[in-house]
Amino acid sequence: MSTLTTDRLVLRPFKEGDAEMMYRNWTSDENVAKYCHWHKHKNLDATVWLLNMYLEEAASGFEYRWAITQKDNDEPIGAIDVVGIIDDNTTAEIGYVLSKKHWNKGYVTEALNAVIDELFRNGFTKIKAVHHVDNLASGKVMEKCGMHFVGYEKSIAKWGSDELCDVKLYEILK
Ligand SMILES: CC(C)(COP(=O)(O)OP(=O)(O)OC[C@H]1O[C@@H](n2cnc3c(N)ncnc32)[C@H](O)[C@@H]1OP(=O)(O)O)[C@@H](O)C(=O)NCCC(=O)NCCS
Repeated sequence: MSTLTTDRLVLRPFKEGDAEMMYRNWTSDENVAKYCHWHKHKNLDATVWLLNMYLEEAASGFEYRWAITQKDNDEPIGAIDVVGIIDDNTTAEIGYVLSKKHWNKGYVTEALNAVIDELFRNGFTKIKAVHHVDNLASGKVMEKCGMHFVGYEKSIAKWGSDELCDVKLYEILK
């Protein structure tokens, strides 16, 4: 998996030892989990389990998940990854999260732009993303990255629940 560098960030693979900062920075924060499919983690063990899954998937060849770090600090402050690949490996759907203490600095816009470029370089021709209708900041990120609003869809609100919510779908073509 390649490390991507932007003006202020380094997007790197996750590694052993990241769980504690993932837990402190976002997995335990209801503000971050609110519009995501997962529930906030109640303890560090849940994040250790998640990190182990990330490391296993990377070891099996999954290349499209990055820890978001600042250039001068290796601590993971967020994550950006491909959450689905369809259409004969030509379309990728992206998801992202960032520690609340770093919101509204333009970090995820910077990260998403870099990941879109990387996926286009790797053969994808369409990138998709969805956000909960009330998650306006996420929609703003998609728009700032040149993604176009396609329409509304229904999505599962939380994994393990039947509850549906309205999401907005955005796309960008190569
Ligand atoms: C959504 C999220 C990833 C945005 O990351 P970020 O690094 O703060 O995003 P950026 O700073 O690049 O851009 C955010 C934009 O949204 C705007 N914004 C923030 N809150 C807003 C709100 N309530 N209404 C409208 N716009 C809002 C900001 O002003 C900024 O736009 P600007 O640059 O034109 O001023 C981050 O808030 C997050 O991790 N949220 C929780 C997890 C999540 O929702 N993930 C996405 C699931 S689809």
